[in-house]
Amino acid sequence: MMRFDIITLFPEMVRSVTEYGVVSRAAEQGLIELHCINPRDYAMDNHRTVDDRPYGGGPGMVMKADVLLSAVRAARQQASSSKVVYLSPQGQTVHQDMLKRMSGMVNATDEAGLILLCGRYEGIDERVIQLEVDEEWSIGDYILSGGELGAMVLIDALTRLLPGALGHEQSADQDSFSKGLLDCPHYTRPEELEGLSIPTVLKSGDHVKIAQWRRMQALGRTYARRPDLLEKRELSEQDKTLLEVFLRQHQ
Ligand SMILES: C[S@@+](CC[C@H](N)C(=O)[O-])C[C@H]1O[C@@H](n2cnc3c(N)ncnc32)[C@H](O)[C@@H]1O
Repeated sequence: MMRFDIITLFPEMVRSVTEYGVVSRAAEQGLIELHCINPRDYAMDNHRTVDDRPYGGGPGMVMKADVLLSAVRAARQQASSSKVVYLSPQGQTVHQDMLKRMSGMVNATDEAGLILLCGRYEGIDERVIQLEVDEEWSIGDYILSGGELGAMVLIDALTRLLPGALGHEQSADQDSFSKGLLDCPHYTRPEELEGLSIPTVLKSGDHVKIAQWRRMQALGRTYARRPDLLEKRELSEQDKTLLEVFLRQHQ
């Protein structure tokens, strides 16, 4: 079971990630647990204030340290083995490999989890990061209005890696990035569509040939669209041959 504790001003938004598809089924099966903590519940004043003006002036507001520290510490008490991750555009960019390692830890220890801290406004008081944040993770080089979408992305991407979360055990393995390559193209009925037919090998029933064709497509697509992924790995002789065939066919 993987436990997610999300510190957010918008718990309903984050909870909605468990209402659909794979994540919803995983939550029903008890593969994941979601707990939301609203920093507003830790605000001591009558207005339940969670933000304040930035020291030094300038636009926007900053999330206050005291409420966030109380919220994070409350989460740590409930989930003592979880690390605290602040969703931040300044953090390390999340990659499939890192999520796989994380999901592997869950499988090995059965108690790993994440406390996901979602910022809003201009961000959070830096001292919260110094005092309580273990890691900062970004979901890409763009600016969101809050960390909630990032937390939802992580919950979805991690959940599908947990054993039993997907109907078919192999489907996560086939996905793009899982073996350092992009996925091959997929087809379903009808066989003919506006003059386009499906590759004949897919109808051959020859599973070895089909697997070879898929591997060749995955290699070719990765070469064409994400050559950086291929640069990071040493191709086997068989893969090199498949890629050469693909390139000859697509000259
Ligand atoms: C408007 S942003 C603040 C951005 C901040 N002023 C900066 O430039 O680094 C508000 C919150 O959205 C979240 N956020 C924005 N972009 C993100 C990204 N690419 N990845 C993860 N979280 C992000 C963070 O939690 C951040 O505190």
